[in-house]
Amino acid sequence: EGGEVDGEDELRGLAERIELTRLEDEDEATKSAGTGELSSSGSAGLSGKNEGQVSSSVTTEEEGEDDATPPTLRSVARWIQAQEQGTRRNVIVLSGAGVSCSAGIPDFRSPGTGLYDNLQKYNLPYPEAIFDLNFYRRNVDPFVSLASEIWPGLRYSPTLTHSFIALLDRHGVLLRNYTQNIDGLELLGGVTEERLVECHGHFRTAKCTNCFLPHDGEECRREMVEEKRAPRCSRCGGHVKPDIVFFGEGLPDRFGRLLRHDLEEADMIVVAGTSLTVAPVSMIPQMVEPTCRRVLLNNELVGDFSPEGENEGFYNRREHSDVFEEGFCDESILKLCKMLGWEDELLELNSQSQIGDYER
Ligand code: OAD
Repeated sequence: EGGEVDGEDELRGLAERIELTRLEDEDEATKSAGTGELSSSGSAGLSGKNEGQVSSSVTTEEEGEDDATPPTLRSVARWIQAQEQGTRRNVIVLSGAGVSCSAGIPDFRSPGTGLYDNLQKYNLPYPEAIFDLNFYRRNVDPFVSLASEIWPGLRYSPTLTHSFIALLDRHGVLLRNYTQNIDGLELLGGVTEERLVECHGHFRTAKCTNCFLPHDGEECRREMVEEKRAPRCSRCGGHVKPDIVFFGEGLPDRFGRLLRHDLEEADMIVVAGTSLTVAPVSMIPQMVEPTCRRVLLNNELVGDFSPEGENEGFYNRREHSDVFEEGFCDESILKLCKMLGWEDELLELNSQSQIGDYER
């Protein structure tokens, strides 16, 4: 129907223009525009690994015990395997903080362990103020402390989930990885730049938060990591920050440029380790075509995923039921890779990508 198509286009257009926005409630997820509402303070010591996270030595179901594995994950494996028989597969992976938890980086919103529950020492007005531009202009310390902790390449290594995304890329199945993470573990894990959209920015480049003059990224790293301070702009003296997207800022151009195309091409979307609470990325699973299969690998059910029975898409009935594999994503990935016969490759790729021991 014409109206539906227009509406869908409008939604997609919105996602391309929209600024980083925290969703207050689920209804807002489909219509939220405008600037994000931020809140308050501090840097958690990034200490806690999720209890029970799997490591590469975890025992999972052995080959041959297929009956014990969820049929849903099995069907995902079969579907991906068809690529080997010449059927083209285009998978979007949408990832969030949960995929990095087993590396030792806490997520944002898990009660108790999430970053936003551990910012007391910064006395922030509200937790998300750590990513608020106006707050940063007054007080750089919380963000600088966080940045110096998670700066890519320093101490955290890719998880099995990152390695799986890289494997999808190697096997020619990955259409794109849209990540909300700023820890850089996708690239370290071997996902190629072409297949990666860092929706919330990265640490490689930097600019002044006042006059937006670009600042040398390496110099920014040195000052933030080694001297624990934000560089000053050589032109106006404003605080420099790496090109991480703060609330109220626009997403990188690459996001809007690729999303429209990828939504048309994708025939599976795998969503992992995200609460789907920050727009516009949170809207992507609703925007895929009704024919696109949707898979959620997460500790909890999020967004509009509906693993049981019929699932109404935003405008059309979805042609396939969603798959929801509840639990730690590394564990689900290991199961899936066993089914795919990719386990050895996964473990090898993951071990190759580990950075040297770091004394915590
Ligand atoms: P959240 O902390 O909001 O959500 C993490 C999700 O992952 C939750 O649903 C957890 O239950 C789940 N989870 C945690 N560990 C997991 C594991 N090992 N396996 C599977 N699931 C796990 O993080 P995001 O959704 O990524 O913005 O947050 C979105 C944005 O909010 C971030 O990009 C950040 C923040 O403000 C910026 O940095 C600008």
